Amino acid sequence: MSGSCKELHLGVLCVSVELRAVILAAGLGKRMKSHRAKALHEVAGQPMIRHVLAATSAAGVGRPIVVVGHQAEEVRQAVGEAAEFVQQVEQLGTGHAVLQAARALAGYEGDLLVLYTDTPLLEPDTLVRLVEAHRNAGAAATVLTAEVDDPVGYGRIMRDPGGRLLGIVEERDATPDEARIREINSGIYCFRAGPLFEVLPALSADNAQGEYYLTDAVGLLIGRGYPVAAYRTANSVEVEGINDRQQLAWAERVLRRRILDSLMDSGVTVIDPASTFIDAGVRIGVDTVIQPFTFIRGRTTIGSGCVIGPGADLSDVTAGDCVQVIHSVLAGVRLEDGVTVGPYSHLRPGTVLDRGVKVGNFAEIKGSTVGRGSKIPHHSYVGDSRVGEECNIGAGVVTVNYDGRQKHRTVIADGAFVGCNANLIAPVTVGENAYVAAGSTVTRDVPPEALGVGRSPQENLEGWARRRGLLRKREEK
Ligand code: UD1
Ligand code: CA
Repeated sequence: MSGSCKELHLGVLCVSVELRAVILAAGLGKRMKSHRAKALHEVAGQPMIRHVLAATSAAGVGRPIVVVGHQAEEVRQAVGEAAEFVQQVEQLGTGHAVLQAARALAGYEGDLLVLYTDTPLLEPDTLVRLVEAHRNAGAAATVLTAEVDDPVGYGRIMRDPGGRLLGIVEERDATPDEARIREINSGIYCFRAGPLFEVLPALSADNAQGEYYLTDAVGLLIGRGYPVAAYRTANSVEVEGINDRQQLAWAERVLRRRILDSLMDSGVTVIDPASTFIDAGVRIGVDTVIQPFTFIRGRTTIGSGCVIGPGADLSDVTAGDCVQVIHSVLAGVRLEDGVTVGPYSHLRPGTVLDRGVKVGNFAEIKGSTVGRGSKIPHHSYVGDSRVGEECNIGAGVVTVNYDGRQKHRTVIADGAFVGCNANLIAPVTVGENAYVAAGSTVTRDVPPEALGVGRSPQENLEGWARRRGLLRKREEK
């Protein structure tokens, strides 16, 4: 994608862009007090870095370069094919981090966005506007800034009395007067690649943190006579940097609300946004109602006219239209149209329920397909099974799929009726339209249309309780 030219349409915006990006993700994030690199901490179900990548990609940037260091391998895995990587072996500062991308960008003379991994709330049109401002100003560097009430922790933007940008001072190096400045550096910049890589080797680590600050590149460019600009965004929330766990929880709240708002705008009813948690990337059709205390995570897609919740927890679920899920936990499951689940079902990976299937109270299903219109209404365990169409699985039926060493499959063919509390010892097949008597332990296949009875005949011992003196209800004298 290097140096590619793209037409980009975002709302009213339309800019022709030659644009690349470097995302800095090598830091551990000391203030997180974590063993995991900051880039991997999740917001709305996705590692922070994925949100930044989504914003750059939606803004029309080609495959970005991600600078990795701490837990480089894990960060690479979280990003996958979406970027190329360069390694910063020692974390000597943000300026030093960008310098690691010099070789990967050799010969590139276009515009270069630089972003940090810890701004998960960033939106693509802000990047587009930054690039536009940068180009309109003919600048060698444009800093995205914001005015905030509490600038603590940020680099401050210094301007001369005429408002012209003078440079950025980091909080720890700021004088008390400078620290009072409320315009902050977002950590998002657009540079012309040539001038940037010209000044980076000249950075000094002579500052409070002993680091090579990218922020000093701005002052160096000004010193060398390059035109430098600042673009102030009105939306300071978007550029908030997430450095500690409290900020992480705050970002989570903001992003979840944004996700819910966008779902509601698209025709989904969310009864109680405060108790509804939906990951970025989840898709839900119109007129679906999300009831309170519901979590919808991962790669989940839900059709229209469904009722999800109350108390549903869905991960990686694909559901059709008019599906109902009440007080249940589902992961890695496909539900066709008209399926109802719950209350209190647990559907585990590999479960596929065909149209109109009903799974009810306290049922667990794993690695199984259930055919159209079949019912598993109460207290069952169905594992590694194929259940046909129009079957009835009685209360308490268990497919005994594990012999202590291996898992085995159960087949219950179309139209079969399995009576209450039957154990089907796999591998075993219950034939089409066959019946299994309640309480049976089935160890051999039941042929189609047969009744399988696998229980010892009942014997009644007359007068047994009286002989043993075990009458519980006393006789009246
Ligand atoms: C940085 C800016 C500050 C700005 C703020 C915005 C500098 C010197 N300061 O401060 O002006 O207001 O962001 O949120 O740039 N990283 C590396 N390698 C390193 C050091 C950092 O890859 O050697 C990465 C980190 O993983 C992180 C990003 O750079 O993604 C920023 O580092 P961080 O420590 O969060 O910088 P701040 O102190 O927040
Ligand atoms: Ca930061």
